[in-house]
Amino acid sequence: MLDRVESLMQSYVSELSNQYVEELFCKLPNGKRLRAKLVLKIAGTGEEALRLAAIIEMIHAASLLHDDVIDDADTRRGVASLNATEGSKQAVMMGDILYSKGFEELVAFERGLAAKVASAVTQLSIGEMMDVELSKKFNTDSEAYMQMIYQKTAALIEATAAASAMLAGKESRIYAIYGRNLGIAFQIIDDILDITQSSEQLGKPAMHDFEEGKCTLPYIYLYEAIDESGKARLKSLHAKKLSEDEKGWILAAMQETGALRKAYLYAKELGDEAVSLMESEGENSLADIVTAMIERNF
Ligand code: IPE
Ligand code: IPE
Ligand code: MG
Ligand code: MG
Ligand code: MG
Repeated sequence: MLDRVESLMQSYVSELSNQYVEELFCKLPNGKRLRAKLVLKIAGTGEEALRLAAIIEMIHAASLLHDDVIDDADTRRGVASLNATEGSKQAVMMGDILYSKGFEELVAFERGLAAKVASAVTQLSIGEMMDVELSKKFNTDSEAYMQMIYQKTAALIEATAAASAMLAGKESRIYAIYGRNLGIAFQIIDDILDITQSSEQLGKPAMHDFEEGKCTLPYIYLYEAIDESGKARLKSLHAKKLSEDEKGWILAAMQETGALRKAYLYAKELGDEAVSLMESEGENSLADIVTAMIERNF
């Protein structure tokens, strides 16, 4: 069914009747399609569910185009990012085009559903802005981090689950809680993978968050766990290009202090809540999505 979502996205972009836009869109690889899978698992594979899945994946793709400009990332989904090949200006405009076309299609849905998704995208953008703001200093405030990742990542996943439940006539409140927990855990795992995996494995730059000034949860836990000289060394590396030795020191310290493990366990706890909730609803395949997401390595 995901192939039908792909072809819907293709046809939405074709409707724009611009060859350059179509060419650029064709060059974007597919990604994991987590959000589309959520829609189809919650709302089934009827016409409306397929359209919602395509719209949300277009919106997500737009957010990644902008994110790679913001994060100065030159790879995405295993290939050169659009900002790397076409420049940031074209990547920003392509993001705008996919956002706007997504919203254009979204307004065909019931008003409450459309508003939920649209307002999550506003939250996503505010979250991205907070992420940049927080990266200007060495942030050790885990509450500020949690609020930021809720907005930049979990809000759209929460809205995806809730909107899909609305389509299916299921209780959207329960699916929203599921989506929120899944989304927060998803971003924490993404932040862990940035540290533990290679760029090849991720298909996007690795060990890049801290260079960009992002003190993600493992960094916050590491800072709490090390002694004064370690704290000073970590701070001195913040928002700088790291040598292989410096990367090695960070990774070893993350492992020795248990900072990575602690972040993983926090994500797992949130994931387990989402799993229990779905098991109690008899939604076993939605529970499985969470487990696979927690255990993923890219
Ligand atoms: C990447 O999202 C951005 C984050 C929220 C971490 P995904 O990891 O879902 O990206 P794709 O769609 O699979 O490439
Ligand atoms: C971005 O978070 C989340 C979005 C809302 C796009 P990241 O900056 O960590 O995502 P990646 O690691 O580049 O995919
Ligand atoms: Mg990024
Ligand atoms: Mg980012
Ligand atoms: Mg990331």
